[in-house]
Amino acid sequence: MESFKTILKKYNQDDLLKTIENCSEKNKAKIISQIKEIDFDKIDKLYEISNINYSKLDTKIIEHLSFYDKYNMDFEFEEEVSSIGNKIIKNNQYAVVTMAGGQGTRLEHNGPKGTYLLNIKPKPKYLFEIIADSLKEENEKYGITLNWYIMTSEENNKETTNFFQDNNYFGYPKQSIKFFIQGNMPLLNEEGKLILDENYNIKTAADGNGCVFKSLKDSGMIDDMKAKKIKWVFIGAVDNAILNMVDPVLLGLTVYQKNEVASKSIVKANPYEKVGIFCKKDGKPSVIEYSEMPLELAEMKDEDGELLYGESHIMCNLFSIKALEKIAKQNLPYHSAHKKAKYLDVNGNVVEPSVPNVYKYEAFIFDGFRYFDNITILRGKREEDFAPIKNKHGVDSPETAVKLYNNRYFGRI
Ligand code: UD1
Repeated sequence: MESFKTILKKYNQDDLLKTIENCSEKNKAKIISQIKEIDFDKIDKLYEISNINYSKLDTKIIEHLSFYDKYNMDFEFEEEVSSIGNKIIKNNQYAVVTMAGGQGTRLEHNGPKGTYLLNIKPKPKYLFEIIADSLKEENEKYGITLNWYIMTSEENNKETTNFFQDNNYFGYPKQSIKFFIQGNMPLLNEEGKLILDENYNIKTAADGNGCVFKSLKDSGMIDDMKAKKIKWVFIGAVDNAILNMVDPVLLGLTVYQKNEVASKSIVKANPYEKVGIFCKKDGKPSVIEYSEMPLELAEMKDEDGELLYGESHIMCNLFSIKALEKIAKQNLPYHSAHKKAKYLDVNGNVVEPSVPNVYKYEAFIFDGFRYFDNITILRGKREEDFAPIKNKHGVDSPETAVKLYNNRYFGRI
């Protein structure tokens, strides 16, 4: 007990210390067993990056990143790259990862985001079901069974796997689906202190989609892919109802350009749309996330009146196995976000804040891009590639996604 007190004092975690003094023996033991697992030096470093003023990003190190426009491609060239991609897919050297570990707080759906039922034509489907059906179509087209890897979090893994089981894996061959769990990061309050939930657990949240690389490696999924002779891995989001996960043009172009990483983009709708944008940062391929985009940069236009930084990251990313292994060895930076979270005060009372009171730390998938001199960017089309479901109402909501989905598959394009 004394050694824990010394650690907590050293790292200024006096709230936790007071709680330990005030609570029952059982809860005391519970807290102590969790403290054993915490790297307090890492926590201190995290706290240093909280509350960064991103509008101060040095815009001089940001440059335009070149891209190919899928719909302005020379026909013969498109055929050429497409046949390169098709060959790899037909040989079953291509796999798909769905990242489904996020909390989906903005959608206010009670459960993993993939279990959200979207009211599309001809019948409502769960987001996971939409993905499963889309992959089944590709399987039929190519005469293969794509290996499908699904990333969950500690928070939603059980519910997700049960959901698949209860729904008979949506008819997808069960042996070709593998689930793996991403890591967690503690939340810190505005003084850099750990907080507890009502069950005396240190409050944590999923560590961001940038942790997909390490999670793939640590869970043995990369080894599994290598054993299956998979060479290319698509990584996409769970919350885009028309995500195209198997695009032979994107894959073939990447191979043609001798790149290890690729991404599909679309034109940003307006300077304020909540999407990351592609650029070069310090000479390396990069994405600036919407939450960190200085307004001045977002509004910049080129000589044709187009947004200078207008290629949106739609979470449609492709990596060679070698690239996944390379990024998994790096420590991607954490980004902080100011959020609201219930917590237990030192007297054991639950406090429900009305304003943001904690920092959440997440790694971002696109921070892996900078380990490459070049990446392939292929501009697609919003109406064919992007129907995000983020908010309960308004922009990027189920309502807008349903319209986009129905138009994509049942309308006139
Ligand atoms: C994300 C992108 C943004 C892009 C937008 C397009 C990042 C950091 N941001 O923003 O650049 O323009 O999508 O829709 O990628 N996820 C996990 N684990 C986590 C966090 C997220 O699996 O810890 C998954 C989510 O389940 C989802 C995807 O990552 O499938 C997107 O995550 P989300 O946090 O919702 O990102 P956005 O803020 O929408």
